[in-house]
Amino acid sequence: MSRNIDGHLLLTGMMGSGKSTVGPKLAQALHYSFYDLDDEIVAAKGVSIAEIFERYGEATFRQWELESLSQLLSQPVPVVLALGGGSLGNERVFSLIQHHQVIWLEAPTEALWHRVCDSPRPLVKRGLEAFRRMHQQRRKAYAKAAMFQVDCNQDPDIIVRTIVEKLGAHGNEQRNSD
Ligand code: S3P
Repeated sequence: MSRNIDGHLLLTGMMGSGKSTVGPKLAQALHYSFYDLDDEIVAAKGVSIAEIFERYGEATFRQWELESLSQLLSQPVPVVLALGGGSLGNERVFSLIQHHQVIWLEAPTEALWHRVCDSPRPLVKRGLEAFRRMHQQRRKAYAKAAMFQVDCNQDPDIIVRTIVEKLGAHGNEQRNSD
């Protein structure tokens, strides 16, 4: 997994990994602002994620995702940002996030599926096997982008504590190697 020093804190991981639950708590612990990429897209376009997929298709959603991300990352003050589960599949997103700190929330596919199977997320409609394949494929991108992985199948407060500790350890490692 790669290591970065500065920049924004980006939470990645599959749908259901708790990015939008852990994100605000992490932001509060660090006194950062929190943003959710999906919410920013919805606010910018005035349409729900499900409607975007239905009316305009996934490719348009990915383009809008890239645009909203680019705007959020241009903020001068570090923030905590929850990415969408599929955003790192876009090579242009991948290059945009290079100088930021990416944290990967991970759990077994079944645990993630259990959390999202009743949700209105458009890609959940494709079923468990498609979700499993998606998770399998995306793991590579998550692993390549992230500084470290955290088990998200536990209490959000514990996840936040773990992330804060790991961030401290990474900061120290980084300073020692300078
Ligand atoms: C998606 C995940 C969703 C949302 C969209 C597509 C994906 O975000 O961006 O439905 O491709 O995994 P969450 O990961 O926040 O559910």
